[in-house]
Amino acid sequence: MQQCIRFESRFVPAELKVSAESLHAEALLNLDGIRNGTCAGGEWTGWFDYPARSGWPILDTIEDFVRKNDTFFDLVIVVGIGGSFAGSKAVSDALNHSFIHALPRSAGVPVVFAGHNLNEAGLLELIDLCDRRQPMINVISKSGTTTEPGVAFRILRSYLEKRFGEREAARRIVVTTDSKRGALRALAREKSYRAFEIPDDIGGRFSVLTPVGVLPLAFAGFDVRAMMNGAESVFADFRGDAVAGRLKGAGAAAIEYACLRRASWEAGKRIEVMNVADPKLSGYVEWWKQLFGESEGKGGLGLFPAGFLSSTDLHSMGQYLQDGPRNLIETFLVFDQPTARSSIERRLAIPSQSGNADELGYLEGRHVEDLNVAVTQASQLAHADGRVPVFEIRATRLDEFNLGALFAFHETVCAISALLLGVNPFDQPGVEDYKKNLFALLGKPGHEAQGATLRRRLGR
Ligand code: PA5
Repeated sequence: MQQCIRFESRFVPAELKVSAESLHAEALLNLDGIRNGTCAGGEWTGWFDYPARSGWPILDTIEDFVRKNDTFFDLVIVVGIGGSFAGSKAVSDALNHSFIHALPRSAGVPVVFAGHNLNEAGLLELIDLCDRRQPMINVISKSGTTTEPGVAFRILRSYLEKRFGEREAARRIVVTTDSKRGALRALAREKSYRAFEIPDDIGGRFSVLTPVGVLPLAFAGFDVRAMMNGAESVFADFRGDAVAGRLKGAGAAAIEYACLRRASWEAGKRIEVMNVADPKLSGYVEWWKQLFGESEGKGGLGLFPAGFLSSTDLHSMGQYLQDGPRNLIETFLVFDQPTARSSIERRLAIPSQSGNADELGYLEGRHVEDLNVAVTQASQLAHADGRVPVFEIRATRLDEFNLGALFAFHETVCAISALLLGVNPFDQPGVEDYKKNLFALLGKPGHEAQGATLRRRLGR
């Protein structure tokens, strides 16, 4: 199977490497715990090796469903929050044309997102877009009771019903939720919406390879089979005797990276910055932030995951990275072939001009992408000189296969890292606290007493 993920730690102090090595045996035991479901939160490890466990037949069902769909649509709306939207957004942002909305329909199907905030203007503007398009909605919520997607879905559902009538609206709505529980499941039954299941043993932020991520991407025409294959290629590297340390490729890389992250925490580091040099990867960085933030940030522990977009942030946050508190590590996500598919057939070189008034003559004929590679190299060297431990995760090219591989890689690194810190990677008690407060403040039946207490504390 094609090998695509590599890990580099050239710019890492020797003492950090020594301390990371002493954690290898523990990391391998944790990997075994994830594999066997015996680690903390072991009942939530269905994401590990998901393609081989159950991913392929589910993918067949989704592809079949999308193929047989006979309702015309030219816009996919994903309604969801957290793990219910971040993965599909990462892929569509990375692979769709950046200006797809402004291009003819032949450029592809735009994927837009709602339900991840309660911004009224945003919803009104989305309805403006819907008026010009034929939308298909995939509403996604594991619990089926989260307020933000619930509200957005009610508004969009009522828009669809008014515009198309109940029957046609029902054909334009697909639900992804828990197999039995939650308001969304009940609504799907009542309205006969087509519904897909989020497996019981997979939590939101680990669910990108399940129908949560795969269904909307398949609707929008992405190669979800390649994405699953990419993930499979990484999980294959974790097979074999982990405790004996015979891991290869991405498996060995994941162990090394997780140990270095843990050693960094011990060495007083408190922030991990993911540096990407392509705005199309901002969605991937957001997915990564949720994965690590929600999985590790518990009990006063965990590196704070922060995103950094070069060159933009080099001219703002770059100063802090170079010269602020030395409590951070930096991980660059880079691609051998970084050009997105929408532009892969074309290259853009610096044009030659008569004269050299702009003093850029020395760049003539060179591709913009090659200059961008130099930006990454220049920052790695500068930040290493500024005593930031610099890591590099390298994938082959920006496509579905590599993104699938990166999802599998980061999920496994995250779970091992959290276990090395001694925290359960798969719960999110802090998020539940805010959800309960919101129910109480909005007056949800059953939460009235807590609502009154909270309003008193707010002085309202
Ligand atoms: O990782 C998680 O479980 C959470 O971030 C959820 O994805 C998020 O809270 C959304 O929840 P739900 O899918 O239940 O609406």
